[in-house]
Amino acid sequence: MSIIVVFGGTGDLGRKKLIPDIYNLYFENNLPQESRVVTVGRSIRSEGEYKESVRECISRYSRLGYDEDVWRRFEKIISYRQFDFNDIEGYRKLETELAEIEKECGRPLGRLFYLATSHDFFGPIVEKLRDSGLANGRDSFRRLIVEKPFGRDIASARSLNAVIRSVFEEEDIYRIDHYLGNEMIQNILSLRFSNSMLEQVWNSSCIDNIQISILEEAGVEGREEYYESSGVLRDMVQNHIIQLISLVMMEPPVSLAPEDIKEQKLKVIKSICNMTPEDIGENVVLGQYAEGTIKSEGVKGYRSEKGVPEDSVTATFAALRLFVENSRWNGVPVYVRTGKRLNNKLLNIAVEFKNLSSVYGAEAFVDSQPNLLSINILPEESISLQFHMKKPGRLDKLEPFEMSFFKNQELKSKNPETYERLIYDAIRGDSTRYAGWDEIESSWRIVEDILDTCEKRKECLHFYSAGSSGPNEAERLLERDGRRWLGDG
Ligand code: BG6
Repeated sequence: MSIIVVFGGTGDLGRKKLIPDIYNLYFENNLPQESRVVTVGRSIRSEGEYKESVRECISRYSRLGYDEDVWRRFEKIISYRQFDFNDIEGYRKLETELAEIEKECGRPLGRLFYLATSHDFFGPIVEKLRDSGLANGRDSFRRLIVEKPFGRDIASARSLNAVIRSVFEEEDIYRIDHYLGNEMIQNILSLRFSNSMLEQVWNSSCIDNIQISILEEAGVEGREEYYESSGVLRDMVQNHIIQLISLVMMEPPVSLAPEDIKEQKLKVIKSICNMTPEDIGENVVLGQYAEGTIKSEGVKGYRSEKGVPEDSVTATFAALRLFVENSRWNGVPVYVRTGKRLNNKLLNIAVEFKNLSSVYGAEAFVDSQPNLLSINILPEESISLQFHMKKPGRLDKLEPFEMSFFKNQELKSKNPETYERLIYDAIRGDSTRYAGWDEIESSWRIVEDILDTCEKRKECLHFYSAGSSGPNEAERLLERDGRRWLGDG
């Protein structure tokens, strides 16, 4: 039995993901039946109002749907506490309540604290967890899940980490990157390390380039204040994109133990080449959406979003050409792009293999497509392999042939949601699918260099119409190398 305390659980993330996913865990008996869930928020609401809002979120967002019988039991284990995150008294009262519950149970209970508030509160909350005694006691576990962003640069990430480490042991800190909880993303490891036909060719001798695209149609969706101070590099590149690069390019771990996987991921992140300001000029394209049209609807530009200054230079799009310098990957470009208000919702990893031109001359490939392995996560989960086959009736001409494996939609609804998977892991003390501190620190190194250069050079920013594929300069980044973006058809 354990107690989950969600700080900021009434926010968007809490309502749409965390609470419905905790319900899913409970529904499928993955949360011990006698567990308790306490949501801490700043808004005043009665226990009844809170429960009603949870019931509504479950009906709307749970993959398992609302079930009257499960709900009757679940509502007994959830509760709401209102206090200001800076007010130590609220934490003290909570400590007294939790101690009371433990007394009733006759044993100490594990405590999992989830920080889903605005990041400014992360440090202060952790300090108060310590000062109130909530995080103390070692007879049962005390664990902490921290949402992103983990800092806004290396310095602030280090100070946040120092505060957290002064209260929690390293193995009890779970720095979340929700992409790591995605089933298809977890498949990257199995695909690579259980299929010899892939692992043997997974290197610069056979691979021409790797591309990662995370494209969104959505805009900043009510998170303008956070986004304006963050921008795409902090919001998507420092975490999700770099984590994906590390999974796709890591060496085989000695085992599937978290420390072995993290060790190999870290090595890749550390091997991503540093860029001088000149390199950044050549290898980084940043953009911001201007007004445009998405699915026949007019959409305003970023600078016209509520609360965004009309001269904002915050980037909402980034395309980068990176290199991982090690013996496996020397010379293989890694192209990544991510942005908001684009023409597509897409999450795709494309691995392009080199053409074998010793038998078939370059001419033969003219009507074909690259030899490609695609790992598609959005809009649909699938894996596809693109081969060259001969054109019917011709021996000397090739055309593309695609073999796809589509994840059955029915199967998909049986998979745990990303947060569900990750919370389950944290309760069991498994940090495999969480980012380690060293990975976060090294990721900041890469992003900070780019931020330093680009924030000084305001002319770095290129505007693109909402609903387009991003600034033209992003296309040129690849055209210059004789390549094009893959993954969106
Ligand atoms: C979040 C970013 O981490 O990931 C958002 O803060 C982004 O800006 C989101 O929209 C994308 O994740 P998903 O799961 O919606 O694809």
